[in-house]
Amino acid sequence: MPLAVQFLTAFAQALSALTLYPEGHRTRERALDAVFEKLNDLLAEDPTPVYSFLGDEIVYGHIPLRELRGWEWAPRLSNIGIQRLQFDQTVTRDQIGEFLDDVLARLTLRAIDTSEARQMRPSGLRYGAVGIKGDEEHASEETATATIAFTLGEEAQTIRWIHDEVSGNHALPLGEAEAVVRALSVAMHGDQQVMLPLLKLRRFDEYTTTHSMNVCVLAMGLAQWLRMSADDVRSFGLAGLLHDLGKVRVSKEILTKPGNLTPQERAEMNNHPAEGARLILTAEADLDLAAVVAYEHHIMLNGAGYPGLKYARDCHRASKLVHVCDVYDALRTNRPYRDAWPPDKVLAYLEERSGTEFDGQIAQSFTKMMQAWEPSLAYVGESDPVPTT
Ligand SMILES: [Fe+2]
Ligand SMILES: [Fe+2]
Repeated sequence: MPLAVQFLTAFAQALSALTLYPEGHRTRERALDAVFEKLNDLLAEDPTPVYSFLGDEIVYGHIPLRELRGWEWAPRLSNIGIQRLQFDQTVTRDQIGEFLDDVLARLTLRAIDTSEARQMRPSGLRYGAVGIKGDEEHASEETATATIAFTLGEEAQTIRWIHDEVSGNHALPLGEAEAVVRALSVAMHGDQQVMLPLLKLRRFDEYTTTHSMNVCVLAMGLAQWLRMSADDVRSFGLAGLLHDLGKVRVSKEILTKPGNLTPQERAEMNNHPAEGARLILTAEADLDLAAVVAYEHHIMLNGAGYPGLKYARDCHRASKLVHVCDVYDALRTNRPYRDAWPPDKVLAYLEERSGTEFDGQIAQSFTKMMQAWEPSLAYVGESDPVPTT
């Protein structure tokens, strides 16, 4: 069992011991000893261990801890505002004890005013919310201790590999696609607020990879902005990541053609939504949301776009959301036939077409999110570190 898992297991046992036995009881002390020992083992291997609790998922650094999938403490911790947990070498046994007490207080007194608890927060470990709830009191301190530098290179490479697999007629490697979504979700959560790390396009023929990743990040950002659950945020992220999967069946010449497409080329291009939905459902019948989004992401609110609907109907909310993110990233990127647009121009475009092409509420929320998180939006190269907040 990896040390990262061993520590969390000891941590959960200690929490149980704390609820069952009174202060000073030997069982409590022994449980605390065990946590401290496991933490020291872990610190010897990794000087700055960082855990993220995302719904029922636990991510250690960049790596999801598969062994603890479905671990009951993950949603509990994340529900009481502990979505990120970080230790350094100076942590003491007493500090661990205080931390466990605070966790327990939060678990039993949900409405507790944590302002006092925050002041007592021990220095060798940091914990708290990731996402939009910033801890302003500790702003400068938290910034100074932000130590992890993410790059998007590995994720981009994995997406390229996923596209190659599917284009080589292999089944969609779903586990890897989900791992990319989780990794991006971790990269998006700095110490205080959401980051929107977007990838810069290197070459025109890599557009689908870069764009899939960016739409995934934007879709998760918007879903989170709309206060969806962690699970929904990631499902929307996966749908964003896979929305253009059908483009693996469109020829490169068409995808990178600088001029207008011929009617025949247009027909091949416009087939990517249906093709994408088919590829996704072939890999996994349960991925109905991603399949629906792949199918519907070019259908406009007024029914225009493609594929043409024989019977008019409303598209799924996730499709409307991905549609906005899709157009934003497409217009913000250099294409063979036009330069990238500045952000203001893109937002004006969304507004102008809201109610006809885009769902008004979703487009408006997207603009608000962009205005609020603009300082933490960064277009980075594959090997550039993603800035932390
Ligand atoms: Fe598309
Ligand atoms: Fe797209």
